[in-house]
Amino acid sequence: MPRVYIKTFGCQMNEYDSGKMRAQLAPAGFVPTEDMDDADLVIVNTCSIREKPEQKLHSFLGRILPQKKVRPVTVAVAGCVAQMDGGNIFKKYPGVDLVFGPDAVAKVREMVDAARTTRVLDTEFFGADGYPFPSDLDPDASGRVGAFVTIQKGCDNRCTFCIVPSTRGDEVSRPFDQILAEVEGLVGEGVREITLIGQNVNSYGLKIPGAPTFADLLRAVHAVPGVEVIRYTTSHPRDMGDDVVACYAELPKLASHLHLPVQSGSDRVLRRMKRFYTRARYLEVVAKLRAARPDMVLTTDIIVGFPGETNADFAETMSLVEAVRFEGSFSFKFSPRPGTPALRLMDEAVPDGVAQERLEKLQAWQREVQLAAHATLVGQTVRVLVEGPSAHDEGVVCGRTSTFKMVNFPGDPALTGQWIDVRITRGFANTLRGERADAEPAA
Ligand code: 5AD
Ligand code: SF4
Repeated sequence: MPRVYIKTFGCQMNEYDSGKMRAQLAPAGFVPTEDMDDADLVIVNTCSIREKPEQKLHSFLGRILPQKKVRPVTVAVAGCVAQMDGGNIFKKYPGVDLVFGPDAVAKVREMVDAARTTRVLDTEFFGADGYPFPSDLDPDASGRVGAFVTIQKGCDNRCTFCIVPSTRGDEVSRPFDQILAEVEGLVGEGVREITLIGQNVNSYGLKIPGAPTFADLLRAVHAVPGVEVIRYTTSHPRDMGDDVVACYAELPKLASHLHLPVQSGSDRVLRRMKRFYTRARYLEVVAKLRAARPDMVLTTDIIVGFPGETNADFAETMSLVEAVRFEGSFSFKFSPRPGTPALRLMDEAVPDGVAQERLEKLQAWQREVQLAAHATLVGQTVRVLVEGPSAHDEGVVCGRTSTFKMVNFPGDPALTGQWIDVRITRGFANTLRGERADAEPAA
C-alpha cells in the first residue's frame, strides 16, 4: 500500500483541503502516515498569507527533497503558495513533481497518477458555476469530536493587505443540500461539533437571488439530529447582519464564541484597508451580539504597522481592544504581499522596530486581559465537551467550553465526546485547569 504524508500550513481552509485530499487518495490505495520519511507521496499544503508562513515551505522542502537521492518519493506543493508561484516552484526546487492550487484539490488523484510520468502543474480556477466541492469525507474525521465543513470558497472582498482573493479566487457558495449532507455524514461518523468554514461566511448565498442565507444555514444545521455545537469562521464585521445576531438568541447549539477580525481600531486605517466598517459599527455589532448572548466571548485578528499607521492610529487600536476585551487575538505585523493594493502605500511603510514595539505592547495587554478573565473563572463550574487526551500530560484530558476555552482536567480518555462538568482550579493565559465537578475531589 502506498503511503501519503500531508504537511498542512495555514488556515482551516487548508486543513480542510488536506482532509479532502486524504479522502480522494484513499480509493487509490493511499494510506495516511505520520512519518514523512516513510511516505511514497509527500504533499505540502502551503500558506502565503504572510511572509513567515511562506518561508516554512522553503525549510520543509529542504528536508524532503534530499531524500529523492536515496529513495523514490513523489513531492507535491499544493495550496496558496503553489497558486501564486505556479511553475516557478519547479525552477526554484527542481525535485518537485507536482504543483497545484486550492481549486485543483478535487483533481488530486488524477494529478498524482499523471505525476508518475511527467511534471504536473494545475493552477486553473473553475468558473463560479463549475466549482466542484469535493464531497468525500476526510477519513481522519471519523471518531473525532469536531470537524470542519466548508460552505464557500474564495473571497470577493478586496482588503488591501490580503493575498487571498488571488490565491483562492472569487467567492462561490456551496450548495445548501451538499453542506447538510456533509454535516449528516460527519454526525454519522460520530462528530458532534461542526465548524462551518469559509473566507467570509456571512455573505453565504447572497450572490444568488432568493437562495438561503447564512442565517438559514445555521438554522438548518441546528436542526440536524446529533449536532451538539455549531461554530463558524471567518466573519466579516461589515456583513454581520441582524439575522445572524438573532440566531444567538434562538439557537442554543450555536456556541457562545465568535471570532470577529477587526484588524484595526482606527477609522483612517480601516478605510485604507478597505474594510468598509468603522470602529463605531464594529462596537455596535459587539453590543448586539452581547445583548443576544450575554456570555458571548469574542476573539479577533489585528494587524499592526499597516503602511501609514501613526502612533495615534495604534492608540485607537489599543483603546478598541480595551473596550471590547477580546479574550484571544491573533496579531501580526503587516507583511507586504505580492500583487496586493497595499504595496502602493509602501512609501509610508512603518519601520519594523516600531511595528514590533506595537505588536509587543498589544500582545502584553492581550495576555493580561486573558489572565484576568480566566482568574474570574476559578472556582466556577463549566461544561466542556471532551475532545480527547491532553497532548502533554498523561492521565489528563482536554475539552472546550461553548466559549471556546480549552480546559485540561484529570480524566480517562474514554470520556472523549462526553459533556462533563468541570470545576476550574487555575487560569493560565491560554488554557484553564480544573477537576471533575461530579467526582470526589482527590484525597
Ligand atoms: N500582513 C499581516 N497580516 C495579514 N493578515 C492577512 N494578510 C496579512 C498581511 N499582509 C492577517 C489578518 C487576517 C489573518 C488571517 O491574517 O489579520 O485576518
Ligand atoms: Fe488560508 Fe489565506 Fe493562508 Fe491560503 S493564504 S492558506 S486562504 S490563510
